[in-house]
Amino acid sequence: MLKTKDILDEKDERLHKVSEEVTFPLSDIDKKLINDSIEYLTNSQIEGLAEKYDLRPGMGMAAVQLGRLKRYFVVVHEYEPQKFNTYVLINPEIISNSEERIYVDEGEGCLSINREVVGIVPRYARVTMRAYDMDGNMFTVRGREELAVVFQHEFDHLNGIMFTDRIDKKNPFKDQDKMRAI
Ligand code: NI
Repeated sequence: MLKTKDILDEKDERLHKVSEEVTFPLSDIDKKLINDSIEYLTNSQIEGLAEKYDLRPGMGMAAVQLGRLKRYFVVVHEYEPQKFNTYVLINPEIISNSEERIYVDEGEGCLSINREVVGIVPRYARVTMRAYDMDGNMFTVRGREELAVVFQHEFDHLNGIMFTDRIDKKNPFKDQDKMRAI
């Protein structure tokens, strides 16, 4: 079982590197990391279990956050209270996005960032991703609102970009009036 201390902190230079494409068939290491990530993220959002196993609540995990510089991430999205959809995106691409932009009003979180961060992270309100599943089959998935933000946040990890990198340094609230808060 994954532990919170297994997740790299933003100070680790690996988090700032570009991850490599995955080749199929998927290795046993990657299969295990994916399944462990699903378990961690799901348990972390279940009341009682998060405390029991000392998990930080999170919706997404990119391989690089566990020290594996491969292009995949896992998202566990609570679409209704205590009901979850799981997404595994391998070698993902954003194939289309909305014009409209949004930001998370309370700020984005990241399992690799353990401090308060102030400012706006601009995201597309809707994105369509194309990716491969664990068996190497291509699929597309559309995310909107919170799910779109998570897809973009995790996709950024594959390119070594942290959400803090997307906040304007001089004016953390730049263009706030041009975006919708969610
Ligand atoms: Ni993150």
